[in-house]
Amino acid sequence: MTSLIDKIDRNRVPGHVAIIMDGNGRWAKERSMDRSAGHVEGVNTVRRITEAASEAGVRYLTLYAFSTENWNRPKEEVAALMHLIVVAIERETPDLIKNNVRLDMIGDFSRMPQEALQRLRQCIADTSGCTGLTLNLALSYSSRWEITEAARKIAADVAAGKLNAEDITDSTVGSYLTTASMPDPDLLIRTGGDNRISNFLLWQIAYSEIYITPTYWPDFSKEDFYRAVLEYQSRERRFGLTSEQLKK
Ligand code: FPP
Repeated sequence: MTSLIDKIDRNRVPGHVAIIMDGNGRWAKERSMDRSAGHVEGVNTVRRITEAASEAGVRYLTLYAFSTENWNRPKEEVAALMHLIVVAIERETPDLIKNNVRLDMIGDFSRMPQEALQRLRQCIADTSGCTGLTLNLALSYSSRWEITEAARKIAADVAAGKLNAEDITDSTVGSYLTTASMPDPDLLIRTGGDNRISNFLLWQIAYSEIYITPTYWPDFSKEDFYRAVLEYQSRERRFGLTSEQLKK
């Protein structure tokens, strides 16, 4: 069977793909299952899409695994989700290493249970020598939290005389964000069909191409991922310029 991966132009693969993984709950509800069954199935999709991204030559894959707002879900769902994420990452770490995938994470870790955090940090350390795809988990993350933190740190550095207020540029701001070591996402995918950004990478997606699919995250296949990459490759990114200027 031919795969859409063969249609991807290898010279124009999005370097950074960010994904809002939505629809686990609805997937489960449609099957009269508990919401947590949707999250369990969602973990399989994480594995599948990490593989797909790696095979397509993507360098960074950022997944919105747990938002700051998710802390407000029922206590049992929060605990189950945290547990599921930690156990899945630990289980997958040997395979991540085998596939040269480096794990990273961004978010407000002060709100995370200490044990979960330590276990995830161990997996990050174990994969730190990998040089292929970086799988970046946004955990306890929200963009407004991140930008507020950056503003605080910038203000502190100005007050301490380490930074001149007049010298602050947009790249200065970028360097205070949790994503400082990564390029901005080229492509933002949202599954589950909602047309919103939900407090995810607001600064970083200024020029990202946005791809929204009604497919629920547990059903999102490798071919669906390649379809999103192909759609990205069919678009003209103008970064505020005209088509004519781009042709020069
Ligand atoms: C949104 O679905 C999804 C989440 C809040 C969590 C996504 C987490 C996973 C798929 C597990 C991640 C695992 C690893 C290893 C990173 P929803 O519950 O909001 O769905 P709904 O909109 O249909 O209710």
